[in-house]
Amino acid sequence: EKGGFDHFMLKEIYEQPSVIKDTYRGRLLADQGLIKLGGLEDHIQKFVNADRIIIIGCGTSWHAGLVAEYIFEDLARIPVEVEYASEFRYRNPIITEKDVVIAISQSGETADTLAAIKLAKSKGAFVYGVCNVVGSTISRETHSGSYTHAGPEIGVASTKAFTTQITVLTLIALKLASVKGTISYRDYNIYLQELELIPEKVEKALLSNEHIKTVGEVFKNARNFLYLGRGYNFPVALEGALKLKEISYIHAEGYPAAEMKHGPIALIDEEMPVVVIAVNSNHYDKVVSNIQEIKSRKGVIIAIVSEGDTTVKEMADYVIEVPNTPESLTPLITTIPLQLLSYHIAVMLNRNVDQPRNLAKSVTVE
Ligand code: M6R
Repeated sequence: EKGGFDHFMLKEIYEQPSVIKDTYRGRLLADQGLIKLGGLEDHIQKFVNADRIIIIGCGTSWHAGLVAEYIFEDLARIPVEVEYASEFRYRNPIITEKDVVIAISQSGETADTLAAIKLAKSKGAFVYGVCNVVGSTISRETHSGSYTHAGPEIGVASTKAFTTQITVLTLIALKLASVKGTISYRDYNIYLQELELIPEKVEKALLSNEHIKTVGEVFKNARNFLYLGRGYNFPVALEGALKLKEISYIHAEGYPAAEMKHGPIALIDEEMPVVVIAVNSNHYDKVVSNIQEIKSRKGVIIAIVSEGDTTVKEMADYVIEVPNTPESLTPLITTIPLQLLSYHIAVMLNRNVDQPRNLAKSVTVE
């Protein structure tokens, strides 16, 4: 049932090219310049007229929400707030009928997310679900929604659910951007074509598996890790750190790279591996300066770079290359090496990768 893989997690990491494709199949019609999402089209005015979109979720689903915040605001120009469902439900938030809430949940059973949905509905908000499990409680409790088509995710560490969530959220953002006219016809079409190229680029990113394993070998006994990214890759840094924590039990923190100087840079010494996402983007030069700051304090850099990179390659101690894609789609690619890195470290430490201690696949209690 693990399809020849040692663990479900690894199998699920390798399924990503095909499940990302399954998630956009029939929805993304690049040659016709169309995005078809029934659940969205039926309620498109709710989204177009919304004062703001509030995205709620927990754990990895919350990270997908953070990526969506960047892409929704960037392309569709709709104000977005992203919140942990567990905080949202208890803080007496201001919610009105003009708000659209997007609830993200792989299992569709997370208690905090479900409670937050009920609260939003009681205040008159329109609630849209992005779930993986068909017929799950959250998919039934929401007014409408779009499923991810990741297939069953068995490993407690969420992998393919994350990239398929981002795929659906990207489709939603692009659809809204085209309906609202906040994106040029040209850019819109470029994105559709680029999205179709993502599965083969993920496939290519997976080819670094053996190299990533050797990097993991070097750092498996580290006690702390830092993960840094900017812009679209800040949430990816958070996700990379969460993956490492939950399956290897090594302490890891994700940070926006620019926040370093506001505190965490004090942690840097020759013992501290720092994973930096330094792919081509608007922030590339800024990330290069952040790497210099870390190097001058003797930090050890593991950099995720774009194919053809030269600058960061010269500065970093270890480099993992990933294919190029437009900046807003990079999380779909940069996540892959981080999943593999945490996987290999956990295996080398003899951890129970698929069922880490103290964790459950669906958190149905608060
Ligand atoms: O099923 P959900 O997406 O609602 O689950 C949310 C979190 O419990 C989940 O993402 C958790 O953080 C994972 N173990 C992360 O890998």
